[in-house]
This record gives sequence, C-alpha cells and structure tokens, in this order.
Amino acid sequence: MRDPLSQFRLDGRVAIVTGASAGLGARFARVLDGAGARVVLAARRVDRLAALADELTDAHAVACDLGEPGAPTALVEATLERYGRIDVVVNNAGVQYSAPALDVPMDEFRRVVTVNLEAPFELAREAARSMIGQGTGGSIVNIASIWGMAGIGVIRDAGYAASKGGVINLTRQLAAEWARKGVRVNAIAPAWFLSEMTADSMFSDESSVAWMQRSTPMGRTGEEHELDGALLFLASDASSYVTGVTLPVDGGWTAV
Ligand SMILES: NC(=O)c1ccc[n+]([C@@H]2O[C@H](COP(=O)([O-])OP(=O)(O)OC[C@H]3O[C@@H](n4cnc5c(N)ncnc54)[C@H](OP(=O)(O)O)[C@@H]3O)[C@@H](O)[C@H]2O)c1
Repeated sequence: MRDPLSQFRLDGRVAIVTGASAGLGARFARVLDGAGARVVLAARRVDRLAALADELTDAHAVACDLGEPGAPTALVEATLERYGRIDVVVNNAGVQYSAPALDVPMDEFRRVVTVNLEAPFELAREAARSMIGQGTGGSIVNIASIWGMAGIGVIRDAGYAASKGGVINLTRQLAAEWARKGVRVNAIAPAWFLSEMTADSMFSDESSVAWMQRSTPMGRTGEEHELDGALLFLASDASSYVTGVTLPVDGGWTAV
C-alpha cells in the first residue's frame, strides 16, 4: 500500500490564498507551502505578503483589492503568468461590519457581500476555467463560518451572516456543476479563532470570551493550528471523493 500520508502532499501544485497578509490566510499559506505547494499570496497589504513570501519556499505576492471589480480575474491572470497553472484556491479573505441590522447602511452591507461572496465566486469561476482547461481539475476551498449556518443574536453583522450563508450554498452549487469536470469545491466553517478580525471584537473583552467558551461544547476557542488539518485534507487528494461539503471546525458548536 502507498503511504497514506502521501495523499496530503501538494508537491508541484500551485495554490492561491486570498487574505494571506494576516490571520488564518497567512497560516493557510504556510501550511500549503509546508505540503510542497507553490503559493500565490493575495491581499491589499503587499508589504506583508512580500515578507511572508520571503519565508516560504516558492511564493509570489500579488497586491489585490477584492472589493474592486475584476480583481479576482486579474489575480488568476497574475497566477497563470507566474506559474502557468492553478491547482488549489483558498477563498479566505473576508471582512465584517458589526452593527445591529437596523443600523446597517446599504453600502456597508454591499461591501461585505462583495468581498465575502462575490469575489470568491469570481475567483472560483476563473480558476475553475483554468483547472478544467489544463485537464487536471483542482480543488477550491471556501472559508465560510459557523455564522453561515445559524443566526447569532448576541453578535451582529447581517452582511457577514448573509454572505457566509451564501458561500455555503455556492459551495454546493459549484460542486454539483463541476464535479464531472474534476473541480472539487468544499468549505470550512471555523468558529472562534484569534485574528486581526476577532481581536477587537469577539476576543476584546472577558464576557465575550466567556460566552464563546460557554456556548461551545468543548468549552474553549480554537488554537491557531486547529484549522491546518481541515485545510490540507480539502486542498489535497486526501479528499478526492469529497465535494460540496462544509466542514465545521468549531469545537462542536454546530452539533448542539
Ligand atoms: N477568525 C475567526 O474566528 C473566523 C471564524 C470564522 C470565519 N472566519 C473567516 O476566515 C477568513 C479569515 O479571517 P481572519 O480571522 O483571518 O481575518 P483577518 O485577520 O481580518 O484577515 C482578513 C484577511 O482578508 C484580507 N482582506 C480584507 N479585505 C480585503 C480586500 N478588499 N481585498 C483583499 N484582501 C482583503 C486582509 O488583508 P488586507 O487587509 O491586507 O487586504 C487579511 O489578510 C475570513 O473569511 C473570515 O470571515 C474567521
């Protein structure tokens, strides 16, 4: 039998990670690099991407504002220009606008939906076109949220909840459309992880941290490394018969 762990290797593959300048995205880029992939790092803060690229084996930084029309298509073009192929996409970049639904201005709602839902669709579409064209297929991993699986009354962001719910059903739809073309589409739904996004909100005060711990069956928030396995599984051939799923990494939050 072949070494079962070899299925998790990504040697020679090319992966795009959006939102690689911070938080979960920077971690995902390191994990894919560790598994042998060449990694295209995308975000607005290109200085941070360049610093990360210097640490990785073979990585390329691309400045990219996913709130701008056509940015995902330009990212695919930049990747093909550099590496000539695309095997993995991690649609990770995301934004929030925290306010009670009654107070959310429509332009803020649209901004969140544009970055969190429209841009992942355009990036998936253009990358899938390339994956199908190159004849090998590929794997798209969308970073959703447990907040796309339930409403949460005590924390408020209608655009975020709507966009993450949209990402989960977009994952199913694209998986169904592209399954016979060799492009798999899956999602990860994280619960509570410390990052730039959550440091000033969920992790900023003791009562909020206590609420996260109390409402999570495992009684704690996630550790930095606890998304590595889910990402590697879905990005690699280890999940070759898996498409259309959303994998919660949430200490059991969605189980109750
Ligand atoms: N942390 C959690 O607990 C948690 C839980 C569930 C889901 N998630 C999801 O996980 C993903 C990563 O979150 P995080 O916690 O790591 O957040 P973060 O620390 O705030 O990082 C967000 C990343 O997205 C990039 N980004 C934001 N707007 C962008 C734009 N217009 N164009 C390009 N890149 C943009 C940022 O880079 P620049 O500012 O340099 O552009 C940054 O690299 C998000 O989709 C988030 O919704 C996180």
